[in-house]
Amino acid sequence: MQARLNPYSPGAGVRPVELAGREAEIEAFDVIRHRALAGRSAQSIVLYGLRGVGKTVLLNEMADRADAEGWLTARIEAHLSGERMPFRRQIAQSLNTALRHAQGRSPKSGRLRAALATFKAFSLTASPDGGLTVGLEVEPQRGRGDTGSLPADLTDLAIDLADAAADLDAGVTVFIDEMQHLALDELAAVCQACHEASQRRSRFFVVGAGLPNLPGLLSEAKSYAERLFTYVRVDRLEPRAARAALTLPALEEGVEWVEAAADVALAASGGYPYFIQQYGQTTWNAAVSSPITVHDAQEGIRAGRDLLDHGFFRARWERATRSEREYLAAMAVDGHGPSSTGEVASRLGRQITALGPTRAKLIAKGLVFSPEHGQIGFSVPGMADFIARELERS
Ligand SMILES: Nc1ncnc2c1ncn2[C@@H]1O[C@H](COP(=O)(O)OP(=O)(O)O)[C@@H](O)[C@H]1O
Ligand SMILES: [Mg+2]
Repeated sequence: MQARLNPYSPGAGVRPVELAGREAEIEAFDVIRHRALAGRSAQSIVLYGLRGVGKTVLLNEMADRADAEGWLTARIEAHLSGERMPFRRQIAQSLNTALRHAQGRSPKSGRLRAALATFKAFSLTASPDGGLTVGLEVEPQRGRGDTGSLPADLTDLAIDLADAAADLDAGVTVFIDEMQHLALDELAAVCQACHEASQRRSRFFVVGAGLPNLPGLLSEAKSYAERLFTYVRVDRLEPRAARAALTLPALEEGVEWVEAAADVALAASGGYPYFIQQYGQTTWNAAVSSPITVHDAQEGIRAGRDLLDHGFFRARWERATRSEREYLAAMAVDGHGPSSTGEVASRLGRQITALGPTRAKLIAKGLVFSPEHGQIGFSVPGMADFIARELERS
């Protein structure tokens, strides 16, 4: 069928036509905003899960909802240290727009002026040339948000912003994607700001998203992190939601899936949103007319797997050096895993400690993560199967 009308959306962070099966997660954040406005206590949220399960899309949906209600929001994507701008600068940059809008909405609010002054001091510490405070007509509040200590400054900023947001009948949320890439001291600063804000019932929240090692990193950064956040595991879609994700986008274009055809595509996808989008897309292109048949689905899966192998998986595989690939191949023996680092080492005939640097590089490249001490797992579903196919091909 016409590729122009193809309603599927494989790709990082691309909003699907049908955002299926995440009602409870979205509702959890709705509840937080309502509780906050009513002066009740509420916890910040951490979303965690493998790549391709839909964390970014969910985070963006939550941010859109907060924006629509007039909340002050900042959206940040953390990157590996070394290739990124400092966290303070990222926060300042992403808040700038929200604050300029707020200034227009509530020009007389004294608390907003105070928050802008703190924001200016905070931002000038990140970027003394004033490039991050363009359009904000206040004098910086010296001594607030500009001590140079990130935990103290971020806390000042969070509290002053939340006070200002109260005058707008709203709150503040900072959305941090790929949060596992923040350094421990940055995670600790985020925890401290959330902690102090929640003790004062300030309307300041963080919604973080990251790989499954994120909860562990937060605990490492601050021992109280476990009680500070609501941790939400984002995983494959349950069967009914997976079916909706696959069939509803087509239905909106007047195209149906034969039930058995959907069964075949869903089984191949394992319920993972990324794979549902991929197989949906290639099956649509393989089909000639509605309804989509089992034969179309089989063809679509073949084409989809080819695309995944040449893109999604291969891009990751090629990021690894030869010795790193050997490490990945030794992990793949366990299927999706996780694997014991000791086992992997003995398969390679090496000492665990000698493999430490290889492991660290693979983690830094985002290919694997350590779910707990002594374990190592693939960050994308299906990687072990891909490696098996790849080794067969070579
Ligand atoms: N709830 C959902 N229903 C249908 N498709 C989804 C859903 N969540 C994500 N997707 C699709 O899955 C893919 C991966 O989403 P993304 O948010 O980038 O995942 P992650 O951030 O966890 O790696 C995208 O193609 C997106 O359109
Ligand atoms: Mg993502």
